[in-house]
Amino acid sequence: LSKVEIKLDDISEGTNLTLKWRNKPLFVRHRTAEEIARMEAVNVSELRDQETDADRVQRPEWLIVLGICTHLGCVPLANAGEYEGGYYCPCHGSHYDASGRIRKGPAPTNMETPEYFFSGDSTVVVG
Ligand code: FES
Repeated sequence: LSKVEIKLDDISEGTNLTLKWRNKPLFVRHRTAEEIARMEAVNVSELRDQETDADRVQRPEWLIVLGICTHLGCVPLANAGEYEGGYYCPCHGSHYDASGRIRKGPAPTNMETPEYFFSGDSTVVVG
């Protein structure tokens, strides 16, 4: 299936749902108000891959990214690593923040954001 519809009601705040989309892992994270505030406050000039949080999300409470480490393609772990609410790739130690941006370790770029749109208050269609 090229498109997948995701019901957001079942994903509680602070958690990350991993599903499969086009044979790749897809992360859907329900971010807390605190995570959102922290991500919006990051000084972009200090980032390796300089994207604002707003560049990466359509609605601040939902982070939707491909769950693939941009180093060599392992699947990062959610809610792990040095950045709270972020991701950690155990293969070679890349740390991503709660916006899926690379902060530390060998990965060159942020985790990729797919095409998606909100089809309702609590439904998103990816693809
Ligand atoms: Fe993730 Fe190397 S594949 S750090």
